[in-house]
Amino acid sequence: MNLKACLKSLAMVAAMALPMTAFAAPAPIVIKFSHVVAQHTPKGQAADYFKKLAEERTKGRVKVEVYPNSQLYKDKEEMEALQLGAVQMLAPSLAKFAPLGVKEFEVFDLPFIFDNYQELHKVTQGPVGAKLLKKLEPKGILGLAYWDNGFKVMSANKPIKSVADLRGQKMRIQSSKVLDSEMRSAGAIPQVLAFSEVYQALQTGVVDGTENPPSNLYTQKMHEVQKYVTLSDHGYLGYAVIVNKKFWQGLPADIRTTLEGCMKDATKYANDVAKKDNDEALAAVKKSGRSQLIALTPQDRAAWKKTMDKAHKDNMGRIGADIVKEVYAATGYNAN
Ligand code: LMR
Repeated sequence: MNLKACLKSLAMVAAMALPMTAFAAPAPIVIKFSHVVAQHTPKGQAADYFKKLAEERTKGRVKVEVYPNSQLYKDKEEMEALQLGAVQMLAPSLAKFAPLGVKEFEVFDLPFIFDNYQELHKVTQGPVGAKLLKKLEPKGILGLAYWDNGFKVMSANKPIKSVADLRGQKMRIQSSKVLDSEMRSAGAIPQVLAFSEVYQALQTGVVDGTENPPSNLYTQKMHEVQKYVTLSDHGYLGYAVIVNKKFWQGLPADIRTTLEGCMKDATKYANDVAKKDNDEALAAVKKSGRSQLIALTPQDRAAWKKTMDKAHKDNMGRIGADIVKEVYAATGYNAN
């Protein structure tokens, strides 16, 4: 075929395709949901559940692509990607909001601030929680919900029983100044690392230990490279589900309303599975025999709490005394 004939046939193909595209269903709205943990974690499962609900209830008008395990972005990059619109939805841990300039979220990192999920929910499902989410808006971000994970264990290659055992240990933390203070209050040396780098850092001895809820510890196999896991429940780790504000506000109103309903149900699902997942993960760590579990007596725990209260005092100004006091009022926190 000569060039002229070739162009003519291409034009005919294009002309035939045109009317068909006029009748074809519009391309779905794509929501890229990136996260850093494994699929079988409270966050991983809730993200998948949100996808299922959103695609069913919008009858395919919305497609949710979930990228787990830092497949697409690591901690810091995912925040930037959301602001730039390269992804539309994230659920970063509450410890990761200060680098955005919203330091108030570090209130959740204060050691021993919540004794249980009931106390946590007074904040995440109450006026303080709503007020904190509002603070994201000037950053081009909307906060849709809080998703629970759980209470942290402390892991290391030496037994950590008394708070003094942390002295001199190099401990991986998330990017939070409150967590930095928590570790320093006990004489440990904190080091910020992205979640995706923790396993290797533990394996190669870049750090000696870390803190995370059992579901994260187990699904990242951290227990395989840590000899001891202390059941300290010394702090909380959970999430805020966030979206790019411009994207969310630009959605057709009916779609947005449907997605809000899906988020409400996915939030209930996340919060329903969180405790169970963490209990199961802890049982699996124990069963694996790879690391030894250490329980704290009430006296040990009281000593940890007293020592780590320094992180409260040192960060009151950074977080904002008003927010800290509102949380104290909701949870009844008392250092003694
Ligand atoms: C961590 O970095 O330890 C956690 O924030 C990971 C996560 O998202 O649960």
